[in-house]
Amino acid sequence: MRHHLHALSRLFVLLLLAAAPASFAADADNSPTPKDLKGFAETKRWFSEHRKEFAERQGLMLKRRYDLSDHPAQDAVMSRGKSLQQGVRAKLPAGISWDDLAKMTPEDIRRRDAFPEGYMPLPFPNHPEGGMLFPRMEIDEIKKQEGRDLERFDLDFDLPEHFLPEFPPAMFLTTRPDLGDVSKGKLLTIDNYYELMDGILNPKQLDGLRLLLTPFPQQQFNATDDRRVGRPSLGVTCFDCHANGGTNGATHLVGDIRPQEFRHRIEAPALRGVNIQRLFGSQRALKTVEDFTEFEQRAAYFDGDIGLAAKKGVNVPDRASQVHHMAEFQELLDFPPAPKLGVDGMMIPAKASPAELRGQGLFFGKAKCAECHAPPYYTDNTMHDLKVERFYKPRLIRGMMASADGPIKTFPLRGIKDTPPYLHDGRLLTLDDTVRFFNLVLETKLTPQEEADVTAFLKAL
Ligand code: HEC
Ligand code: HEC
Repeated sequence: MRHHLHALSRLFVLLLLAAAPASFAADADNSPTPKDLKGFAETKRWFSEHRKEFAERQGLMLKRRYDLSDHPAQDAVMSRGKSLQQGVRAKLPAGISWDDLAKMTPEDIRRRDAFPEGYMPLPFPNHPEGGMLFPRMEIDEIKKQEGRDLERFDLDFDLPEHFLPEFPPAMFLTTRPDLGDVSKGKLLTIDNYYELMDGILNPKQLDGLRLLLTPFPQQQFNATDDRRVGRPSLGVTCFDCHANGGTNGATHLVGDIRPQEFRHRIEAPALRGVNIQRLFGSQRALKTVEDFTEFEQRAAYFDGDIGLAAKKGVNVPDRASQVHHMAEFQELLDFPPAPKLGVDGMMIPAKASPAELRGQGLFFGKAKCAECHAPPYYTDNTMHDLKVERFYKPRLIRGMMASADGPIKTFPLRGIKDTPPYLHDGRLLTLDDTVRFFNLVLETKLTPQEEADVTAFLKAL
C-alpha cells in the first residue's frame, strides 16, 4: 500500500530541500518508517506498536501550529446547535506580530520565514502511509449501529472534536424544505435509512441512498492482507465520510498527485449543494456528480490506482441502474437554512446586525471575497490558484512537501459555519482564521475590526 517513490522523484525532493530553511530540512518531526515488513501479522504488529508515537508526533506539530484550546464562539452555532470555535488559532513565529505581518510584502514574509506554519499545507497524520481515516465519533456510531469496524490499527484521527462539524450533521432536502432536518438527529445507516426516509423519497432516490450507505471493499478496509484493520472488513460506505450527506471531517490523501510527498491532505467536503456546482474534487474538476460517484471506487479511492482497487474487490456500479440513483439522491442535498438571507442571497437589512451588514459591505468591497464567492451560493463554480507559496519556502513537514498547491475549486460559502475546518486540507481551524488568511493572501489590509465584521457575515451565510 505504501507508495514507493522512484529514485528520480526522490532526487527532485532532495533538490528542493536544498533550497529550504535548515530548521526544516531534516524534517525532524517525521514519524518512524517501517522497513521490510513481511506479511499481515508483522505489519499489524509494527504499526500497532508505533501507533502512539505517530499520534504524539502529529500532536506536537499541531500544537506548534495552532492554539487547540476549546473556546466556543458566543454568537453562532451550527444547524443542530454545536458551537463554532472562536478566534484566530494559527500561531505566529517567534518575534513576529500580526501587525508586523500586515505591513510586510509576500516576499518579505517569505525571506524572513515569518508566515504562520498553520497557514501552510497540513500534513496527513502519517503522510507516507495515507489512506482513509475517520474521526472517533463516526467509528463509535457505525460500530454501535452496524457492528462494522472503521478503526485502523495504525493511525488515530488527529484534530480535536471541537474543531469538527457537528455529529451527526443535519440533512436538508431541496424537495422538502418544509420538513427541516430530515435526519431527526440520527446518523443515517443501512440500518435505519428506510424507516427514516420511506415516504419522503421516490423509489429511485431511496435505492440511491441505500447504495450510498452500503459498504464496499476499499483501500484500507477490505478482506485481503493489504488492509489496515484488524479483521477482514466489509468495506466503507460513501456516507462514512459524507455523513448524512454533510461531512464528519474524515480525511485522506488526494489521488491525483505523485510522488507521495506532494499529495494533498484532503478533508471530506459536504455534499450539500452539489446540485448547483459544476466542478467536483478540489483539483480533478470532474464535470458531473455521476462521474465522481462512479470513478472513485475504480481507482481505489483517491489513490489513483486501478490495479490496487481490482485486487481488493472493486465495486463497479452500473451507470444507468446504480450510479444515476446515487447521483439523484446526492442532488437533493440542500444547504442548511440561512434565515437572514433574502432570495438574492444577500442579507435582509431588517434581520441583520450592524456587524453583519458592515461585513457584507466589506465582502463585496475592500475584502474582495465576492470576486470569487458570488451570491446566492457564494461560489463562481471555477478554480483559482491562490499562490500561497509566495509566502514561504518549500519544506518537508512530517513527510509532506509544503510547496505550491496549484488551482483549487472555489468551494461555496453557503452554510460554511457548519463545516469546519476550512480549505481542502482543513488547515484553517476557524472562520476567524479563514478571514485572516485571505486578508494576507489577497493583501487587502483589513483592520482587525473589519476582519471581525467579515467573520460575522460568514456566520450568517
Ligand atoms: C474516505 C472518505 C470518503 C469516502 C468513503 C467517499 N468520499 Fe467523496 N469525497 C471525499 C473527499 C476527501 C473528497 C474531496 C476530493 C478532492 O478534493 O479531490 C470527496 C469528494 C466527493 C465529491 C465532490 C464534492 C465536491 O464538492 O467537489 C463527491 C460528489 C463525492 N465525494 C461523492 C462520493 C460518493 C458518491 C462516494 C461513495 C461512492 C464517496 N464520495 C465516498 C471523501 C470520501
Ligand atoms: C481569487 C479567488 C478568491 C477570493 C478573492 C476569495 N476566495 Fe475564498 N476560496 C477560494 C478558493 C480557490 C478556495 C479553496 C481553497 C482551498 O481549498 O485550498 C476558497 C476557500 C474559502 C473558504 C473555505 C471553504 C471550505 O469549504 O473549506 C472560505 C471560508 C473562504 N474561501 C472565504 C473567503 C473570504 C472570507 C474571502 C474574502 C476575505 C475569500 N474567501 C476570498 C477563492 C477565493
